[in-house]
Amino acid sequence: VNPSIPSRCDVLVIGSGAAGLYAALCLPSHYQICLVTKDELKTGASDWAQGGIAAAINPSDSAQLHLQDTLKAGAGLCDLKAVEFLVNHAASAIQSLVNLGVSFDRKGEELAMTLEAAHSRPRVLHAADRTGRAIISTLTAKVLEKPNIKIISQTIALQLWLQTNNKRCIGASLLHGHQIRWIRASAVILATGGGGQVFAQTTNPSVSTGDGVALAWRAGAMLRDLEFFQFHPTALTLPNAPRFLISEAVRGEGAHLVDELGDRFVFQYHPDGELAPRDVVSRAIFTHLQRTTLDPSHAHVYLDLRMIEPERVRYRFPNIIRLCQKWGIDVFHDLIPVAPAAHYWMGGIAAGLDNQTSIAGLYAIGETASTGIHGANRLASNSLLECVVFAGQLAHLVLEKEPFEEIPVREEIHAPDWDFEKQQIDWVREQLPILMWQNVGISRSHEPLEMALIQVNEWRKQLYELKISQVILHSSPEQKIVFKSSLVWTELRNCIETLNLLDIAYLILKSALFRTESRGGHYRLDYPDSSSAWQVHTIIEKDHTDDI
Ligand code: FAD
Ligand code: SIN
Repeated sequence: VNPSIPSRCDVLVIGSGAAGLYAALCLPSHYQICLVTKDELKTGASDWAQGGIAAAINPSDSAQLHLQDTLKAGAGLCDLKAVEFLVNHAASAIQSLVNLGVSFDRKGEELAMTLEAAHSRPRVLHAADRTGRAIISTLTAKVLEKPNIKIISQTIALQLWLQTNNKRCIGASLLHGHQIRWIRASAVILATGGGGQVFAQTTNPSVSTGDGVALAWRAGAMLRDLEFFQFHPTALTLPNAPRFLISEAVRGEGAHLVDELGDRFVFQYHPDGELAPRDVVSRAIFTHLQRTTLDPSHAHVYLDLRMIEPERVRYRFPNIIRLCQKWGIDVFHDLIPVAPAAHYWMGGIAAGLDNQTSIAGLYAIGETASTGIHGANRLASNSLLECVVFAGQLAHLVLEKEPFEEIPVREEIHAPDWDFEKQQIDWVREQLPILMWQNVGISRSHEPLEMALIQVNEWRKQLYELKISQVILHSSPEQKIVFKSSLVWTELRNCIETLNLLDIAYLILKSALFRTESRGGHYRLDYPDSSSAWQVHTIIEKDHTDDI
């Protein structure tokens, strides 16, 4: 890992999950690539992925069936061409992962497959319950071998650098140590992952703060379908424990979802019971708890694994066994308390099959992008596949290299002290996810959404006016910004992430208020049905009404 930042490179990749790492590997090797990542190289949702990666490679399966299942789960909002592209490239994407050395589980010589909700065939490849770790360790090792890739970790992308006519992205500003540095690039690829941290209950890691979406929006890029958030039905729910995911593959292997009385209640809500689409199962749990529990905000249902052969559980779910043990649960004898948590953001930066966004020179891949594959609700295990299939397209990237002159520094700015401001930022960081979970979570309606939007805008106003925010978001390449060395880097990171979280909260709320119907991950109690008039995408671009 090389900590120095050059003033230019050919391609700047921001994010080192499956999308960013695979993109860096696939880009033509004569390009000089900088791979910037906020935390350690492996930190991200990809490393945490459990269930697996979907691909119709079983003889009893077909790309056509995979397509149908994806479209059905997406509830009328998938882009047919994008889904065709995904399912038709799935087998070769898996083959290239295997060639790189990813060791998926096998049954004899053949790759082993499991079933997950809303898949009509077992088509999810896995590496026990740590499929993400298997993929990420392999990709990381390969990236470290490549002499044309410079890895810059513990570094946060702050703003996109636009040409003066705003037509082209030509780089980005980065917080690196206690300095803001500008790096020029012929292409910038955003691979910053999701935004689950905007909700108080989430399966996502701490880096998932929607930075890519916030940066792209502030730069004027087109965003799409931000109201569609997927709530995973089964996150571990114990006081003080993180919302650790209990993989859907557990239900795919036969586990039951039961209530306090031991009833498999999901069949009351959908004929497919536990294996109904994710949005259906999450809403079933939410509604069932509302009906049957005195305090639904602290309630949970249970996963029962006791009907699965213990040997099978040991082989398939060693990590889940270990984590449950840590919290005092023996999965062979006890039920696991679970409840829904924010898991995957279907919406994101609008991008085409070539990953191009609405701004020339700016590309988006992985969870931060909206390629149209997931529609209103993602089919399980399609996101790792999307990362690999779409990032693989960057092998064909042809750059328009323009002459670049070094920009001299003309001004030195000393960032202000911010003891008081820090308290304000910390408070908003704590309160915002609670507000979002309560008002734009699994079940939404007009008044709470509107109230939350007013509050979020108030916080945006307060925090954007802080001197520290001005320095972070409005510096220019001619300025040298000097932060006091006594400032703790994690506090600066917290400040940046809070500004990003506020922006994505604002955009999610606006989109959720706008869509007066229910579809996929967006459920409006006041408009409980889907409407054909709404079978359209929600598009957002920044304009003067968004100014604070
Ligand atoms: P991530 O893997 O999240 O990577 C984002 C990267 O961007 C990180 O390196 C982060 O540090 C960096 N970053 C963010 N902001 C900045 C910034 N401002 N500057 C610099 N760097 C930045 N999907 C499946 O298909 N199958 C599964 O089994 C599965 N299981 C899952 C289990 C869990 C617990 C979770 C949370 C998700 C799961 N998903 C699964 C979803 C899937 O893991 C993600 O959608 C996918 O991994 C996203 O990959 P990514 O590369 O886009 O983002
Ligand atoms: C899981 O293992 O349940 C997560 C799979 C996914 O999010 O696709």
